[in-house]
Amino acid sequence: MRTSPIGIILAAGAVACAGREGAAPVTRGSFGVTRSGQAVSVYTLKNAHDLEVRVIDYGGIILSLKAPDRAGRFADIVLGFDSLGDYERASPYFGAIIGRYGNRIARGHFTLDGKTYALARNNGPNHLHGGLRGFDKVVWDVTPFGGGASGGDSVGLVLRYTSPDGEEGYPGTLRATVTYTLTNQNELIFDYEATTDHATPVNLTQHSYFNLAGDGSGDILGHVVTLNAARFTPVDSTLIPTGTIASVNGTPFDFRAPTRIGARIGQNDAQLRHGLGYDHNLVLERNPGDTLTLAARVVEPSSGRVMEIYTTEPGLQFYSGNFLHGTLHGKGGVVYRHRYGFAMETQHFPDSPNQTAFPSTILRPGQQYRSRTVYKFGTAP
Ligand code: BGC
Repeated sequence: MRTSPIGIILAAGAVACAGREGAAPVTRGSFGVTRSGQAVSVYTLKNAHDLEVRVIDYGGIILSLKAPDRAGRFADIVLGFDSLGDYERASPYFGAIIGRYGNRIARGHFTLDGKTYALARNNGPNHLHGGLRGFDKVVWDVTPFGGGASGGDSVGLVLRYTSPDGEEGYPGTLRATVTYTLTNQNELIFDYEATTDHATPVNLTQHSYFNLAGDGSGDILGHVVTLNAARFTPVDSTLIPTGTIASVNGTPFDFRAPTRIGARIGQNDAQLRHGLGYDHNLVLERNPGDTLTLAARVVEPSSGRVMEIYTTEPGLQFYSGNFLHGTLHGKGGVVYRHRYGFAMETQHFPDSPNQTAFPSTILRPGQQYRSRTVYKFGTAP
């Protein structure tokens, strides 16, 4: 056993199976053609411990993520589909980059510098995840780096997308770059950067759904979650924050001590009723001087798999897969039933463009948008 730099105990088996010194070279293959005729590629990243991530340039979607359990057995721990057609037709944002604005904007309206902008209302009365064709549905320009003979400690992809002025109703041309880095410390790092030529809201995130016991293996209610959050942003019945920042004390949102997702999800609680379970933004605690904050730790007791999430963002949307209803057929034909996956989306708070008390999400010309999130994988005894 050894302790990794940021604290997870890696099982001896997982370390011993490392077959190489460095990460493997990135490989590229075809993943079909979009309905509009764009060719889509799939890239495979593998680190020195055989942790493997497959990513397509459509939406920057993580198709699969194979990680070892405490006995060194690998399983795919993210939800997804086998075909591009399924992602285009019916995906609830499985594995995708979300933008220009992750999460909801009330009634699809916001006013910026005296001008009101109208966005698609694609989620009941509200705007969700960038609209009808958000960053999850565009083909990104991908450049691989690292791995192979060049050695080094990591391997990855740089994904670039230029969102034209007025796209999905948002002002300004936004140049976005998202870098995925897989390190030999079993971290998957997301670096988000953007610039604009006109003031615009920006809130980029990643929407992987996890099941640390393995994709399709059952619901996620037994996962044990710890969240570094003493407060959350309560919502109305359409999941728009009411504007208050409430203490988690005495509520089912208090995950400051390790707690099973399922322990309180069925409680008769107005907030849980609004979300049909957990679908809420937690306000992360930060120590002065912190850049990366430990936001969450998730342990799956049967496999021993552990995921930690570190971020520079102030919030975390914890979504317990409440809208999975057995209607989607995922990889290998598996049926995604209720709560077969959870998402933890690092982000600014929902509806910030309309909530002056929340940290600002407005990016202006001359400013550089920067955000980092780290998923760190390991195992517990
Ligand atoms: C939202 C959920 C939504 C899901 C989309 C989450 O980020 O909070 O309400 O249903 O994304 O699949």
